[in-house]
Amino acid sequence: MTIPNHRSDAFVFFGATGDLAFKQIFPALAGLVRDEGLDLPIVGVARSGDLESLRQWARDSLRAQGFTDEAATRALTNHLHYVKGSDDDLETFHTLRRELGDAHHPLHYLAVPPALFREVVDNLGASGCATGARIIVEKPFGHDLASASALNERIHTVFAEPDVFRIDHYLGKEPVQNLLYFRFANSFLEPIWNRDHVASVEINMPEAFDVSDRGAFYDAEGAIRDVVQNHLLQVLSLLAMEPPSGHSAEAIRDQQFKVIDSIRPLTPQDMVRGQYRGYLETEGVAADSAVETFAALRLRVDTWRWGGVPFYIRTGKCLPVTVTEVRVELKPPAQAVFGELEPPDADYFRFRLTADMSISLGTRAKKPGEAMVGEPVELYAAHHSQDARPPYQRLIGDALRGDQSLFAREDWVEAAWRVVDGVLAEPNPPYPYEPGSWGPPEAERVLLRDDQWHEPAEKPLAAGVPATARVIAR
Ligand code: BG6
Repeated sequence: MTIPNHRSDAFVFFGATGDLAFKQIFPALAGLVRDEGLDLPIVGVARSGDLESLRQWARDSLRAQGFTDEAATRALTNHLHYVKGSDDDLETFHTLRRELGDAHHPLHYLAVPPALFREVVDNLGASGCATGARIIVEKPFGHDLASASALNERIHTVFAEPDVFRIDHYLGKEPVQNLLYFRFANSFLEPIWNRDHVASVEINMPEAFDVSDRGAFYDAEGAIRDVVQNHLLQVLSLLAMEPPSGHSAEAIRDQQFKVIDSIRPLTPQDMVRGQYRGYLETEGVAADSAVETFAALRLRVDTWRWGGVPFYIRTGKCLPVTVTEVRVELKPPAQAVFGELEPPDADYFRFRLTADMSISLGTRAKKPGEAMVGEPVELYAAHHSQDARPPYQRLIGDALRGDQSLFAREDWVEAAWRVVDGVLAEPNPPYPYEPGSWGPPEAERVLLRDDQWHEPAEKPLAAGVPATARVIAR
């Protein structure tokens, strides 16, 4: 039964001794203890160890992640409880129910491999642990459309949709939220944010590192499942959605769903996949793997607003830099009044969605002097905020309060799978590329007309563009 607006009174995480707990969940919980006085039982469930080893694991995690608040660390470890057992053993869940004591609205976090999701959900239901509870489900949510729908169905046999929190940490990032805010809190964008003025939209997410020790996980996923179906389509939906009627979770998620649902399903002609040289030697990767570590795609958003505007996505491992950047290319002026043919670097918006969050507007301005000759000038605004909460802290805090605004709704997840499903079923072989390059040259094929890929720079200010920089720092 859904109880609106209540605060969860316990936090349970499955996979307590895993990598996600170590890198994200402990620091997020410790941040909530420090910043919001989080004070509830925190129950770790894992196959091995005991309460003392879980406490030590938490301390090690916080030290490794650079968390230095001693009082919050102590408070967090004091809140810890431990249930030893297996996700496929109902008895473990009865033990969990007893351990929860007076808590009747736990928030369960599934930080376990996706293959175990169903088992955990069923056992939560059968043991009474799901009554009055919420659940956070990690990505990947399904492997394709059919498995995602089946998983949604299974979860709904135990949890109602308002109690299901499908986490996508991109939505918890400050600059990603700022995309939504910037679009709808300003009046000047709306008149140009459409096919009359926008020539193309490009979302780049290069990463300069390889798959490292995640070979086995990555080889079952590939770039499209790992970051396109979720993170990058979320960014696209914030860029392209219609204005929501307000900022309630449902008002925003309705529009996010509508726009993702209007994307034309991808065909092999819309996509080029790549694989960096050396990937096949990674531990856990099949010797003949055809999984992509790079993808370049062209998407069509079939709405009145975006008819005819290509949306490009490019992502990959072992590319030259690590950054997520959006570029909205505006159409050129109707006439070359000053006789300058196709100014190469002007008329665009650039959004950096990384820690160095910034928004730039590419313009041309006159060079001082006699001639009416210009140069590219970027108007650049950066926000260096020290108090931005790490995404997992923000999202776990929201889920404890029951706020679903920054979580993926069932219909969105399925619509996003529908976009990529066709190309996942029968992918073309990936083209090889050199580590440190911008991927296979064949990526050019997805571009229309004389569009080109823009290579985001490592630093927020593009080299070679004289910039008028205005830095707003807090
Ligand atoms: C994860 C992917 O979801 O997001 C990784 O599994 C990827 O492969 C990561 O590197 C990127 O997120 P962030 O926040 O580190 O940029």
